[in-house]
Parts: sequence; structure tokens; C-alpha cells
Amino acid sequence: MTKTIDLDEQARDILKMNDRGGYTIPTKGLYPYQWNWDSAFAALGFAQFDCARAWAELETLFSAQWADGMVPHIVFHKADPGYYPGPDVWGGTGPIPSSGITQPPIAATMARLIFEKDQTLGEEHLRALFPKLRRWHSWFMQWRLDRGAVCVTHPWEAGRDNTPEWDAPMARIDPTDVGEYVRRDTQHVDGSMRPTKYDYDRYIWLVQMGRRLHWDQQKLLDENPFRVADPTMTFTLLRAQRDLLAMGQMLGLDVGGITEEIEILEQGAQTLWNPELESFDARDAHSGEWANCVSNASFLCWYAGLDSEGQTKQLQRVLDKVQYGVPSHDPESDKFDGRRYWRGPTWAVMNLLIGLGLEERNHPLAERVRIATKTLIEESGFSEYFDPTDGSAAGGQGFTWTAAVWLSWAGRT
Ligand code: DGY
Repeated sequence: MTKTIDLDEQARDILKMNDRGGYTIPTKGLYPYQWNWDSAFAALGFAQFDCARAWAELETLFSAQWADGMVPHIVFHKADPGYYPGPDVWGGTGPIPSSGITQPPIAATMARLIFEKDQTLGEEHLRALFPKLRRWHSWFMQWRLDRGAVCVTHPWEAGRDNTPEWDAPMARIDPTDVGEYVRRDTQHVDGSMRPTKYDYDRYIWLVQMGRRLHWDQQKLLDENPFRVADPTMTFTLLRAQRDLLAMGQMLGLDVGGITEEIEILEQGAQTLWNPELESFDARDAHSGEWANCVSNASFLCWYAGLDSEGQTKQLQRVLDKVQYGVPSHDPESDKFDGRRYWRGPTWAVMNLLIGLGLEERNHPLAERVRIATKTLIEESGFSEYFDPTDGSAAGGQGFTWTAAVWLSWAGRT
């Protein structure tokens, strides 16, 4: 009990420590800017003790929304030479210097959870945010669908940078003309916990291509060799659309077209079911090939409102394999690496989304996922991610989203 109270306090302190005034950085050094989905999680964390601050977080994020509706994955409010690639490399065309890609659309879902905490305070904020959320979701519907599933156009977009799901599409990129650049991430954390140079050359090559095309979505659609229909994007957008519809109806706003979009996404989600793997999986939109990976994104189906017996079997299997689930990649795969970022580590934020979906269905594995996450934080602190085999801390420390997960869900008594 004492421990839990302590951790509550520590988590609040982390949010305050990483608060840069209206937006929160994920952690000092490694990520010194505002990240899209990190911020949405931060808002949920703040909502546990300061709803006004929670709304400010989302509002600052949406102040960077582009004219076409996209909400960028990084907003560079204040230049920081400790991060690469910075605003000059990206050449974003939005109202505030930013990257040119987006991130999983969880903001609508977090807005709904924040609104439910204090409806009187929240109504005005939600009314103002609603059309911006709608525009962002429409942007996905316009530019990112493949058979109704949502695609990523850069590995950073799914937030799961180096997952084995991208290995085949990444192998097709020839980055020989990428030029010299200096990575900053490995100056902050050990290289064994980060993507490799092979990955980075391709990440930067894709950024250079987007910049050359002025982030024009039509041109990117024609030229970009990396386009993968992804469970993270598909499930989070489907869920976000459901929440947007519910909030719009509650406030008596125009929700025309959202129901139809939900149907498209529901069908799209089913196209991600890989019958041989017996799991939701990523699918290369160019080649049609499966990634053949059970990842933690596969387990977001419940969060999206879709039940699956087959996915339950997979979840049971991976939870039985590692003590501190849910691993980001299948622990029985030869590509599993318990400490290398999205190739094995467990991430509190993904566990939260998975856990919320399971809880809403009264799924028998729901509490197991929450307790595993709670134990990780109790034993190893507010780390960016954790080794699922021994629960040890990995990546950046004093991490905003892990603190937010503790306050809003994992640390619940
Ligand atoms: C990074 O820099 O590692 C990020 O994941 C990019 O979003």
C-alpha cells in the first residue's frame, strides 16, 4: 500500500518534471519534443489529477495540425540539438515546425476518457476539439486505406519503429544515397536497446524522400516503397472513430459519415487476419505479403471492439512464455530480442490499450495483463519499456507514458 502511494506520487512528479508548459516531453534527452501519441497518454495521466492540464496537452498537439488534417508525430516547439532528425531535416509544412508523418490516432479515445472524468469542464474543450479530430480521422480515410485497413508510410508512424513486421518492406529500400548523419539516440541510451544503423539509414532515407516530395500525400502514394497495412493504425483508428461517434452523439454534433467509415474499418480490420498464422498481422500493401508476426499490436483487436477466439489463444500462449507480458514480438520467434525496442520488450502503453479492450469485454486475461504491467513498474520503475523475460528496465527512464499508465490503470487498487 505504501509502495503504491509512493508510486502515485512519483508518477505525478514525472509528469510535472516532463511538462514544458502546455505540452509534455516523453523523457529528457532522448525525446526532447512533443510526440503525438505520447502526448495523448500524458493527457490521460494528467486527467487523474488535473483535467484542465489534460485538455491543454491535446490542444497544444492539435495546434500543430496541418492544413490537410494530418496531426504530426513530432512537434518541434523549441529547437534542441540533442535530437536527430530535427525540424530542418524533416521540413514539415504545418503551422508549427514538425515531422511530416503521423502516429497512432489515440487522441479521440483519450479525449473521451478525459471528458468522462469531468464533463462540466470537458464539454467546451471537447466541442472545440471535435472538428479537429474529425479532420484528422478523415485524412486517414482519404490517404491511408488499403482494402479498408490503415497503412503506415514510415516505421515511426506506427510508433513501433523496428518491429520485425517491417523487415521485408524495409529490405526493399536501398539507402546508399542517404549521406552522412549523426545519430543522437545512442548517445542517450545503449545501442543494444535501439534500432540498428541498417534501420536508421532507411528511416532517414524515407524522411528525405518525404521532404523532397513536400509531404504531398498523392506523390507519396505514388512513390513511397514503404506502405504497410498495420494492426496498430487500423485498430486505433477504428476505436477512435467509435469514440468520436459516441462523443458527437452525446454533444448533439454532426456525425454524418462516421458510421459508414466505421464499417469500412471493420472490414479492413478483418483483412489483417492471417489465417495461416492464426493472428492479426501486418500486410505489405505493395506486395500483399504477410509479415507473419504475432506482435503486441495484434492484441489491439479488443481495444478496437473486435473479439477473437484465435487471438485469445495467441495471447494465452505468449503470456505463458514470458513472465512479464505482453511482449512486442512473439517470444517463440527467432527474431525475438527482449531488450531491443520493438523486437521483444514489453511496453506499458501497449499493455494499457490491450488491457482496456480486454476489460471492456470482461475477458479472462484482462487482469493478468494489468497485474503484469503493475509488477513491472513496481519492480523496475517508470522505464520506457522492459525486458519481458526478467522485467528489467530498458530504454529511457522517468518516462511520461509509463507514469501515465500507472496513474490511469496499472496502479489501480
Ligand atoms: C525515435 O526517434 O526513436 C522515435 O521513435 C521517432 O519517433
